[in-house]
Amino acid sequence: MAWTKKDLLDLEYLTAEEITTILDTARSFYEVSTRTIKKVPALRGKTVVNLFYEASTRTRASFEIAEKRLSADVLNVNVSVSSVTKGETLLDTVKNLCAYKIDVIVIRHSVSGSPLYLARNIEASVINAGDGAHEHPTQALLDIYTLRERLGELKGRQIAIVGDIAHSRVARSNIWGLTKLGAKVTVVAPPTLVPRDIERMGVAVSHRLDEAIARADAVNMLRIQREREKQTLFPSLREYSKLFGLDEEKIKDLPEGMLVMHPGPINRGVEISGAVADGPHSVILEQVTNGLAVRMAVLFLVAGGTSLHPESLGT
Ligand code: NCD
Repeated sequence: MAWTKKDLLDLEYLTAEEITTILDTARSFYEVSTRTIKKVPALRGKTVVNLFYEASTRTRASFEIAEKRLSADVLNVNVSVSSVTKGETLLDTVKNLCAYKIDVIVIRHSVSGSPLYLARNIEASVINAGDGAHEHPTQALLDIYTLRERLGELKGRQIAIVGDIAHSRVARSNIWGLTKLGAKVTVVAPPTLVPRDIERMGVAVSHRLDEAIARADAVNMLRIQREREKQTLFPSLREYSKLFGLDEEKIKDLPEGMLVMHPGPINRGVEISGAVADGPHSVILEQVTNGLAVRMAVLFLVAGGTSLHPESLGT
């Protein structure tokens, strides 16, 4: 299927075909990072700006490496020392950047909807690298890519998403993407961390981790988003960890092929023990590697790439 969208803002409004196109394109790009010279000219002459208004290490690094492996010219705007502190609006900052004829803006912002707002107001392509508690589409795409590589077809597969569902853009994007591809999603958390009406998104809800993981093909452990909580939603981290954290004891009887995922950053000993994070079920570092291929694919597609002809990928 040919890609037609200017931006990547969410998975809610993508079709299963569009999601599959991104994943298939990512598969072609995966190989580039295994070469001695890890670079192709697919985005040569294009300028990409990474505009991060929230702290990020892994997502920003992943986008920057993806852009460089596609031969794009890259500018990182360090917002904490930029004109935001001087009172400039988001749109003014971005319109200024657009006056340099940039091609793609990758934005992370604490306000939900800011990538959509920009996309409607500028000609450059916008990629959402996480907006508030709304969506984090490239994270979900790399999670789904990892699941597809390990499990094959996702139709009918049982995926448990565990943790702070209420504040998690990763959970929301995963739910949209996985359900569109036919997977069965269960969200697992204490009642205070599950949004009301979440069943309307087509997921099951469980408050028992042991029950949910017993039938799961994969479990995605989320971080407790303490920075987004306005009040304490559970008695203590120790108690949370005892009930909802994944440790060796809880997974000792599960089949070897049951996958443990985590988007990072990990709080070892809270939502996941160090032994499980580094253990045989874990695909956490595979997710990171796959994230690069997925972000290369998204950058390539929104920047107008269509053919995956060997010539466009270079050698
Ligand atoms: C996630 C995020 O920022 O939403 N992390 C990430 O993208 N690497 C998840 C999180 O912060 O827990």
